[in-house]
Amino acid sequence: MSFIYLHRLIYSIYYIDQVIQVKRSGDGILTSRDYLTIDDFDIDGKTILVRVDLNTPMDTEDNILDDMRIKSHIPTIKDLEDAKVVLMAHQSRAGKKDFTTMKPHSQLMSQYLGKEVKYVDDIFGTHARSSIASMKKGDVILLENVRFYSEESITRPAIEHSGTHMVRKLSPLIDIFLNDAFAVSHRSHLSIMGFTETLPTGAGRVMEKEISSLDRGVKGGERPCIFVLGGAKVDDSLTVAENVLSNGGADKVLVTGVVANVMLAASGVDIGSTNLDFIESQGYTEQIERGKEILGKFNGKIGLPVDVAFNDGGKRIEALVSELPDGNLPINDIGLETIVAFSDEIKAAKTVVLNGPAGLSEVEPFALGTHEIIKAAVQSEYSIAGGGHISAEVRNLGYEEKFSHLSTGGGACIDYLAGAELPGIEALKAAATRYRLNR
Ligand code: 3PG
Ligand code: MG
Repeated sequence: MSFIYLHRLIYSIYYIDQVIQVKRSGDGILTSRDYLTIDDFDIDGKTILVRVDLNTPMDTEDNILDDMRIKSHIPTIKDLEDAKVVLMAHQSRAGKKDFTTMKPHSQLMSQYLGKEVKYVDDIFGTHARSSIASMKKGDVILLENVRFYSEESITRPAIEHSGTHMVRKLSPLIDIFLNDAFAVSHRSHLSIMGFTETLPTGAGRVMEKEISSLDRGVKGGERPCIFVLGGAKVDDSLTVAENVLSNGGADKVLVTGVVANVMLAASGVDIGSTNLDFIESQGYTEQIERGKEILGKFNGKIGLPVDVAFNDGGKRIEALVSELPDGNLPINDIGLETIVAFSDEIKAAKTVVLNGPAGLSEVEPFALGTHEIIKAAVQSEYSIAGGGHISAEVRNLGYEEKFSHLSTGGGACIDYLAGAELPGIEALKAAATRYRLNR
């Protein structure tokens, strides 16, 4: 046996040892993942602070217009039924019309959970602390909108957040902190970061599912794997494309939406002044140059539309990109030929990730591309959709159950797919390392 072979063998035995689950006495199993989960803790009778993301569109009468995120956390809360559960969440941002209390959220959540989720109109003052201290096993409370406290939205490292009044006042009353708020974990905010320094910390079920499902997209699941990138966040989408094509996570990227218009311009198509002006108004003109580089680098791996749909006073007018008419109509969807060609490629793929709508999906004639792409995606073996607009269309079609994974994240999902490290997830990993070392 050669020295190198022996060395490899020893190394792989060592490596496997690191990867297999390590059983520890008392608290059950410490999973081999780089973050802890509910399964790593003895939760019986414990007080558990869970950061959830219930941020939701609301009308001026405080009605919740979309319950996806509220529903998403129910499994986490159910898995904590032997504990005392303190939920912490935000609604909107200071200065916005729907920056309001968490009371409506608590009511809807009570309905979905089948037991009371008590709303406490305080975050860490005397009322909040006495409410927590008097909880019984099985109780669930929802604290007030955490963004009512202005230090919440300061971006800074976990260690700095951990010294704030909120963390110092609440930590003594809490046994375990769980971050289940994947959708806001791209922000280094107080309630995402601060408690990870002071309390045993793990991920909730939403966070776990987001990480494992999105990893199947980013790190490549069953092949072929196709990403369909649309919507208007062109810079983020191009970063996702570069990331998944250079790390081998995807075999192909199909572009739609404003992303496609930028890439068409990058490929030399004259998309007309209205569309170029729109790109400029969004600050994306230099993305055209970037698009050229990406097309050069990943030759053949980026699928562009062959036809588009213009919006002519609300009417859908189709044209091939090779024969675009003169004029200044906005391109609001991919065309029929593209829909058919993209759908065929998507159906043949084993893993499909959709991010961003293919067109102006909120306007009827221009929702066609988005709807057909969604219908094709669910025919592949593993389908993921992320971002607010596309998730809304998935729900409009009644296709929630047909997707393998519908991400709760907008910005967080696109950052994760782009290969960025999310501060909230990095804090979970750091907390797991500390927890394992200290045992
Ligand atoms: C979201 O809805 O995107 C998350 O809840 C984060 O909210 P934010 O974008 O206001 O930080
Ligand atoms: Mg956002």
